[in-house]
Amino acid sequence: MVKTIPAARPVTKPVAVPANPRFSSGPCAKPPTWTSDALADAPLGRSHRAAIGKEKLRAAIEGTREILGIPADYRIGIVPASDTGAFEMAMWSLLGERPVQMVAWESFGAGWVTDVVKQLKIDASTHVADYGRIVDMAALDYDQDACFTWNGTTSGVRVPSGDVIPADREGLTLCDATSAAFAQDLPWDKLDVTTFSWQKVMGGEAAHGMLVLSPRAVERLESYTPAWPLPKIFRMTKGGKLIEGIFEGATINTPSMLCVEDYLFALNWAREVGGLEGLRARADANARAIWDFCDSRDWIANLAEDPATRSNTSVCLKFTDERITDGAAFAKAVAKRLEAEGVALDIGAYRDAPAGLRIWCGATVETADIEALLPWIDWAYEAEISNA
Ligand SMILES: Cc1ncc(COP(=O)(O)O)c(C=O)c1O
Repeated sequence: MVKTIPAARPVTKPVAVPANPRFSSGPCAKPPTWTSDALADAPLGRSHRAAIGKEKLRAAIEGTREILGIPADYRIGIVPASDTGAFEMAMWSLLGERPVQMVAWESFGAGWVTDVVKQLKIDASTHVADYGRIVDMAALDYDQDACFTWNGTTSGVRVPSGDVIPADREGLTLCDATSAAFAQDLPWDKLDVTTFSWQKVMGGEAAHGMLVLSPRAVERLESYTPAWPLPKIFRMTKGGKLIEGIFEGATINTPSMLCVEDYLFALNWAREVGGLEGLRARADANARAIWDFCDSRDWIANLAEDPATRSNTSVCLKFTDERITDGAAFAKAVAKRLEAEGVALDIGAYRDAPAGLRIWCGATVETADIEALLPWIDWAYEAEISNA
């Protein structure tokens, strides 16, 4: 894409402000129709094992299946400790049966690499790419296991398609999809373990993880016992059989029924905006507005190098103006200026990522708010570049 004119200078301070300046990449903005009334029916002070609690947990599981189009023979569990809990639980329970390929292109993926190499110490090869790039997923051996993140939240780089993953693989694919689920197409037949949380695209509350298992993942759980001990909150089998209750709402330990109620509200909102297709379209429109903004300026660009890998949720941007001598200080100053104006909260790049901005574009964000934010980025950039 050829860059055209930079924004006119000097830029006057915009007047319109985003109605909701919450562009954090997690916890993310609540659904636009959310108020605390959404929680009114939460069965507070009741046992999660009472009929009403079990019914709400079951509805959360089946609502997830419905919106995401998860096949009927896949298990879906609500597990402790958010996405991290779900992914750790999967790695510690399933890996070690065969060699594993640890694949990473940003800091969360890198965290899983460390876990497997330094903590589990199993037979693993590592496949990493720098921020902005992606590992060649076609070059992996899918007869081994593979662990990867679908959408790298801290680099804004996502897997463009699951087509390269063979249907007849012998190994398992373990996918951290926490910033992809509900905004991107996840090819369920190519994913044996998928994890995510409620506080990303759905704008839910933190602390609960979702764990989706294919029949082959269940087969592995029932036929393989890791050499290391597993704490109770990781254990999914008893006497070599899957504990089916976990996947029907009989959670391993106590969930927050307030958070469950909140998630049920978000699932309902998802239905109202057209299900997965509607959610994806909202994220696409948000990201597109930012991509177009970058394309018409010569001082800001998407961190993702290949347009096919650009995230439609965690859009990561870098400043490319050669006059900038200290990239980190510049990006911080821009983010701080925007926050001080109350037009964008929490949009600095992740602490381990290259300096820049990260603007959440998931479905709960309104495109009108992204559009209202963009002139402010022009303004903040111009104000700071004159100090650079
Ligand atoms: C790709 C990825 N993996 C894991 C995590 C950790 O998620 P949680 O805090 O839900 O455990 C995050 C959080 O942003 C993430 O983006």
